[in-house]
Amino acid sequence: QPRGEDLPKQYGKVRHHWEIARRDIRLTELKAKGSYVEVWRGRMRKFPNKREIMKIAIKKIVGEATEKERKFFLSEMEVMKMLQIHTNVIKLIGCYTLNEPWLILLEYAPEGTLLQYLHSRRPGHQAVEITVQDRLMARLKNTTMSAHRILALAAQVVSGLDHITKFKLIYYRLQAASILVGCGGICKLSGFGFQQDIAERNLYESSSAPLRWMSLECIEKKVFNVASDIWSFGVVVWEILHFGMTPYPDMGPQEVLEKIKSGYRMPKPPHCSEALYKKVILPCWHVKPDQRPAYREILDRLTTLATQPE
Ligand code: ADE
Repeated sequence: QPRGEDLPKQYGKVRHHWEIARRDIRLTELKAKGSYVEVWRGRMRKFPNKREIMKIAIKKIVGEATEKERKFFLSEMEVMKMLQIHTNVIKLIGCYTLNEPWLILLEYAPEGTLLQYLHSRRPGHQAVEITVQDRLMARLKNTTMSAHRILALAAQVVSGLDHITKFKLIYYRLQAASILVGCGGICKLSGFGFQQDIAERNLYESSSAPLRWMSLECIEKKVFNVASDIWSFGVVVWEILHFGMTPYPDMGPQEVLEKIKSGYRMPKPPHCSEALYKKVILPCWHVKPDQRPAYREILDRLTTLATQPE
């Protein structure tokens, strides 16, 4: 790693391993704004006092953030410091906390979210959301992503999830919209700020809960564990197979809940192999959390599918 303990003395009073000098960081374009955080595209000097620069993503805390949100922001930073480097997890590059506003500097994912990536790969690509299922289904017949590519994306997401479990982390709101896609179309998990909130047991009390990705026990009992992420992973595979269509199309949120409760599961997509549906997707949606396959098992099954002739 080019950055670290070797920062020159004038860089500040607190010499933290991750701390980057503010003058080496440039925020160039605001990409998104949440309630307490802004996401910017930016640049930073790769080495102190050298010319070479690199593209980065920057999470910036907003001035109006509450005390709780500030804690939340710092907790995400701490979680990311602890995570070791993995291809399928967004890398922490550094941070700026000597003065406000604080910044978290992250590896930049040029392809944006997996959802955007999938939309851009829809056969006969349209930028607008397609809500009429039939129209999309007709197009899926001449798909722009091979079966191999679909399995590879799924395997990348599972590898990232398997990595974070080594640190006793749960992802909580896994969906194509929360996964990033880096250079070469590689899926990367990002956003670990939810850990703190979960500890305070108030996640998803808001109406923004990603219900369509949540397991039954999550919705009903607010029980979150690895098994609930595994359920969501099954929904992500469904999203990949449908080029980022919204799960349970044509159903309202209440109907989704009632249907899952009664044992309904989304059917096998027409262009999805029987094996992928039966060995990976459906087991992730097992009503009993302890009956869902572990990440390692899912990865094995995906590998087997990728190496087997159709
Ligand atoms: N949006 C949020 N984080 C990002 C990142 N690391 N790269 C690109 N876009 C992002």
